[in-house]
Amino acid sequence: MASSLKSDLILGIESSCDETAAAVLRGPKQILSNVIASQVPIHRRWGGVVPELASRQHILSIDTVVNDALRQSGAGLDELGGIAVTYGPGLVGSLLVGISVAKAIALVKGLPLAAVNHIEGHIQSIFIEPDEVPLPMMALVVSGGHTSLYLVEAQGRYRALAHTRDDAAGEAYDKVAKLLGLGYPGGPVIDRLARSGDPKAVEFSRPRMTDRTLDFSFSGLKTAVLRWVQAHPEALAGEPAGGPVAGFEPRMASLPGTTGRPPSGDVGEPASPAGETSQQVLDLLASFQETLVSYLVDHTVKAARLHSARSLGMAGGVACNTLLRERMRDAGSTLGLPVFFPTPILTTDNAAMIASVGWHHLQRGQTAGLALNSDPAARL
Ligand code: KG4
Ligand code: ZN
Repeated sequence: MASSLKSDLILGIESSCDETAAAVLRGPKQILSNVIASQVPIHRRWGGVVPELASRQHILSIDTVVNDALRQSGAGLDELGGIAVTYGPGLVGSLLVGISVAKAIALVKGLPLAAVNHIEGHIQSIFIEPDEVPLPMMALVVSGGHTSLYLVEAQGRYRALAHTRDDAAGEAYDKVAKLLGLGYPGGPVIDRLARSGDPKAVEFSRPRMTDRTLDFSFSGLKTAVLRWVQAHPEALAGEPAGGPVAGFEPRMASLPGTTGRPPSGDVGEPASPAGETSQQVLDLLASFQETLVSYLVDHTVKAARLHSARSLGMAGGVACNTLLRERMRDAGSTLGLPVFFPTPILTTDNAAMIASVGWHHLQRGQTAGLALNSDPAARL
């Protein structure tokens, strides 16, 4: 591939939340290595990501992760053409770890540095594997921190059409799982357990926006689950150890900034198997998931029609969800549009997507200086 860079090898670094990740790509699509150190076991006992613990763990992991990514790719630092790093949105202390390491390597090796928006990274992950994607694409970015719709007009050209007004969809999954003592992260557990439940058993009303926007809201659904649990204490009577909690924000906060609960042994770990969960709870989970997924898909379809999209895409942790993938495929066939989503390892947080965006930035001569700082609330 023709390139203005010394080489097409880009090192990507991602540390915006609770995954320390590094990857080496040749150009925007060829992944030579993709290393991810997950912090889930550290945060699981708190039922959510503890920012202070996350940044400390990034500091401990980052050298190994970057070295592993380089070693697995077979490339040395001297062969790189550039470095890409996530500058936001995310947790400030976590972002700063990746940024510091990226800047240090860029300075020492005299390499150009690309500052990459994490959301742009998620959108780019949709484009890494397929040969060709018809544009414009209606892209749903749905994760633990974000639920947004973007019209992708070209690489690097996005129109933000909708965001969540409160919780993100993944956050709703995580909070419902916490409420039911099912462990963290909640999405994969609910995905699995909901298969044994009746999605029509509990009727949840859909959030409605009075101003006709395509924006999302998930806090009402989360509260409806809480109300149901309060009204059906018998459903949780047989829950496994670490079981139900009384509310969403339990009394705690010995660690600043956490939204989780205090450690009380192996809370929810391993996550409750279907056999130990009452049928009533399985039905509740299936109904919750049905409401959430159909809501996400309906908004995506509406937006796609409105903006004459030629394809549908989705990325971010919740895009791993089995029902969401199935329903989005169905929506695509109804609309006559192809649907794209990355393999799971590229769907959740990773550095390959960051390196891929970085390559495009550097091709366009879009570089960041060594004064680069984090922007925890960065928008795309
Ligand atoms: O993209 P990601 O790894 O990190 C963020 O940028 O937030 O997404 C993590 C989120 C968590 O909330 C997790 O519960 C959710 O993605 N998640 C899922 C599934 N796998 C992960 N939600 C629903 N179904 C899944 N299979
Ligand atoms: Zn993410």
